[in-house]
Amino acid sequence: MADNIEEIKSKLDIVDVLSEYLQLKRAGSNFRALCPFHSERTPSFSVSPDRQIWHCFGCGEGGDIFGFVMKMEGMDFPEALRVLAKKAGVQLRYQDPAISSQKTKLMDICKVAADFYHKVLLDSPLAKSTRDYLKKRQVTDETVDLFKLGYAPENWDSLNKFLVQKKFKEDDIFLAGLTVKKERGVGFFDRFRNRLIFPITDLHGNIIGFGGRWLGDEKADMAKYINSPQTLIYNKSAVLYGIDKARDEIRKKKQAIVVEGYMDCIASHQAGIENVVASSGTALTLDQVKLLKRYTANISLAFDTDIAGEDASKRGIDVAMAQEMNIKIITLPYGKDPDELIKKDKEAWSKAIINAKSIMEYYFENTLKKTDLNKVEDKKQVAKTLLAIIAKLADTIEQTHYLQKLAELINVEEKILREKLNRAAVIKKSNEKVQAVAVKKGNRYQILEEQVVGLALKYPENLNYIIDHLLPDFLHDQNISSLYKELIIYYTKKHEFDFANFRLVLEKKDQKSASQADLLILNIEHFFPEADEDIIKKEIVTNIRELSKHFILEELKNLEQKIKKAEKEKDRDKSRNYSEKFIELTSQLNQLS
Ligand code: GTP
Ligand code: MN
Repeated sequence: MADNIEEIKSKLDIVDVLSEYLQLKRAGSNFRALCPFHSERTPSFSVSPDRQIWHCFGCGEGGDIFGFVMKMEGMDFPEALRVLAKKAGVQLRYQDPAISSQKTKLMDICKVAADFYHKVLLDSPLAKSTRDYLKKRQVTDETVDLFKLGYAPENWDSLNKFLVQKKFKEDDIFLAGLTVKKERGVGFFDRFRNRLIFPITDLHGNIIGFGGRWLGDEKADMAKYINSPQTLIYNKSAVLYGIDKARDEIRKKKQAIVVEGYMDCIASHQAGIENVVASSGTALTLDQVKLLKRYTANISLAFDTDIAGEDASKRGIDVAMAQEMNIKIITLPYGKDPDELIKKDKEAWSKAIINAKSIMEYYFENTLKKTDLNKVEDKKQVAKTLLAIIAKLADTIEQTHYLQKLAELINVEEKILREKLNRAAVIKKSNEKVQAVAVKKGNRYQILEEQVVGLALKYPENLNYIIDHLLPDFLHDQNISSLYKELIIYYTKKHEFDFANFRLVLEKKDQKSASQADLLILNIEHFFPEADEDIIKKEIVTNIRELSKHFILEELKNLEQKIKKAEKEKDRDKSRNYSEKFIELTSQLNQLS
């Protein structure tokens, strides 16, 4: 397995991998971004292509590509390994228990189940009417293959039997969400029966769950759609149907279109518009919005409900607005949903997408539709509704624009509206401040210690000065102090310094201190991206001065205690000794100030 990891690391570049998730900006030899793991306005997230590591100086998270993907995607190690192996084109040995987890086992089961359903749909006489149904709905063979549509036969146990034959355990099949426990007796039966099957994937194309459309009698008391239950791998509220097939196109077009139904998503892809995902009939969730935000901030919604009127959709839109997404609303000229529209007229769907209205325009129009602005009560209501929405806009210029629009519309001074708006904004700001403070951690001296040793490693031309003035005792952090001691030994022996070589020495002793050295350098590169010689020198001098002052002050405190104790014990020699030391240190301290 270790070989696999090294091979993957050698084939992938950390900048490429992280670029899929973050907007990286070059800063000297490194890259920066807003940290995805805590909320911030200025970038503290740093990526070093030289060292192939990342670190956030705001929240302290850091690591390599594996750690990043695990944290970002909430994956365990085997899952992240699969994703990155696929990306690197590295073949993994699946039997290796070290690289499988409960989650990857469930994914394997879902994959084999999807193959089963798909094959049944293509070949089985049982699926004849389903094949006809798809034809009638104009779903092509290519689309059936692309989305790996399937058919679950009406039997109680055909899937379970098949999977057991393939050596999967019944308990695991159940945990993958594919079967249901019998209420009476023991054992399990298939969850999906007589249904058209839509495999649901994560954004890497791993099948994690299923949707199934009832194909029997419409009058039968059956839910039109059922989905996999919540499992270890299927989280309903984080899923976007079609995301694996849409992601590249979303990135390219800088726009994501969200529809409601599986069939809407499929029809759009078939019509050649591929930046489309389906929310599966629920309001947008924070997880879904964040997933889309990795690729674009522009989303267009094509929901067939009245968005401004319906609470659930409104909640979804609020979530997206809070994430600073630019939201547009697609209105269909006719047809119940995009699938119907596309069937009647492909071009009409493209046009509807182009003609999408910004959410604010949409809200303005919708709110006004139901009101008479000659009535004071209506005016008040309009102001209240629209101000609440304007307050949610994250961008102040946009906010002002709509504030002016509202002022004109209801003929009330902008100033008055702004006062109302500001009251809401003050509350929002103070919440943000609390958050910002919470993120800053680590005390001042810890920061100085890390910085000065980092400067020594990054700018070794100052090593003579540093070693003369910075005693290892000044450093309280055991790890940093011992790293610094290694540095002194190394430099005293060689009279020159080469980081790569020094790192090898550290690595031989222990991997952790080598990684820490990397981190200390990255820290310097992050906070002094384009510093010149003089600035660095000054920084070193003042850092050491601060640390030695701190050290002396602490020593003085100790001495004071010792003197008190000696006096109590009437040990005059000791007491005099300490007192002399005290005076000496005090004068040293005065020199420093
Ligand atoms: P067709 O009627 O086959 O065109 O499907 P549709 O996707 O147009 O269905 P509809 O507009 O009724 O629903 C939109 C989406 O909501 C579906 O794709 C499902 O994801 C979801 N949905 C609809 N009905 C149900 C249901 O009864 N249960 C669940 N869990 N989800 C449903
Ligand atoms: Mn439909």
